[in-house]
Amino acid sequence: MIELNYDNCIDTNIGKEGISEDKFETLAGQAAECLEEYKKSPPGFMNLPFRFGEAEKIMKEAGKYKNFKNIVILGIGGSALGNTTLNDALNHPYHNIAEGRKTPRFFVLDNSDPSRTEALSQVIDPKETLFVVITKSGTTAETLANFFHFLKLLKDSVENWKENLVFITGSKGFLREFSDMHGIKTFPVPEDVGGRYSVLSEVGLFPAAVSGINIMSLLEGAADAAENEHVPVNYAALQCYFYRKSKNINVFMPYSSRLASAADWFCQLWAESLGKKESSGPTPVKAVGATDQHSQIQLYMEGPRDKVITFLGVEEGMPELKLDFEGHFLNGKSIRQLFKAEEKGTAGALAQAGIPNMTFKIPEINAYNVGELLYQLEVSCAVAGKLLKVNPFDQPGVEAGKKLSYKILEEG
Ligand code: PA5
Repeated sequence: MIELNYDNCIDTNIGKEGISEDKFETLAGQAAECLEEYKKSPPGFMNLPFRFGEAEKIMKEAGKYKNFKNIVILGIGGSALGNTTLNDALNHPYHNIAEGRKTPRFFVLDNSDPSRTEALSQVIDPKETLFVVITKSGTTAETLANFFHFLKLLKDSVENWKENLVFITGSKGFLREFSDMHGIKTFPVPEDVGGRYSVLSEVGLFPAAVSGINIMSLLEGAADAAENEHVPVNYAALQCYFYRKSKNINVFMPYSSRLASAADWFCQLWAESLGKKESSGPTPVKAVGATDQHSQIQLYMEGPRDKVITFLGVEEGMPELKLDFEGHFLNGKSIRQLFKAEEKGTAGALAQAGIPNMTFKIPEINAYNVGELLYQLEVSCAVAGKLLKVNPFDQPGVEAGKKLSYKILEEG
């Protein structure tokens, strides 16, 4: 199971900016109480890991769509980031161009940037494409704009255009009405699950199943995470401690390209859930090891001491790729060894400089562990919300910008 190593947070290891063992024990106890509180009346996302019956139905349904050449997800925020995360973590890193690919090419369009929408239209043939439109509210303008664009292309080229559409949406809103009117295949979004907590619902599971990901394992990993509660509890306790000590930037740095999108997903989860009026909220920042050692680490080592670093480290399962170049210090080593040495070296150097950092140790990247990881981070976020006394399940601040944009659009 995934473990959280926080040795590099403890004051006896990193100096005065660390946390004492005693303080940590107290805070972890408080975080555990918050989790117990949630368990009395679990928020919707906590039920998702146990919906094996629904997952089976989803898998069966997904089997009908595997012959499409492309699957295009139209969604944004929590209705897109989980899909990208699962595809990037669990499919071949070059899935769309990999030889022997047995499932559709996978595209996520999560912006209203017309250049990207046009570019996607140029590389897919609507006839050969399944469009999965995901929006819980059924009203999100960016998603609907892209849907209308592709619907027109679809109607122009396919008589049975409805066969190329699947919706994942709530019980109300424009998309639900459209679905009822035209009889489009539609999966529900559980009413009590918000977008950024929805990756283990139909939102993440149906597209993942179409692209061949083992969604049962994904749920099993999340379900078993409940036996490993000290991980999210400790993470929330540590993050809230450092946040209150003015280390209000949480750098989330997977040492894994496959988990780079998980960092985007995490940033949304952390930012939208914890950044609230009542408190200024921690700022999540994405970095990817080893790439960002050559981009951001200078700042983290020597810049303002306002950061806590979260690493994701993958223990096994990476290819070795031994190097053979006589006379160079890399000779006889492998690329994997270099990568792991860089992860340990970066964490160690930060610790020596007194900068707190912790590492989620992931045994291997597979559906089970990714399910566990995402669920643990969701639980951490919910617990951190309680510790920081904010509601981690709403996002009132998103509304103002939306309203103004629509006003500007209307006024031309
Ligand atoms: O986490 C959230 O609730 C948001 O990021 C939503 O997912 C995002 O705004 C998209 O909303 P919808 O699914 O209603 O289109």
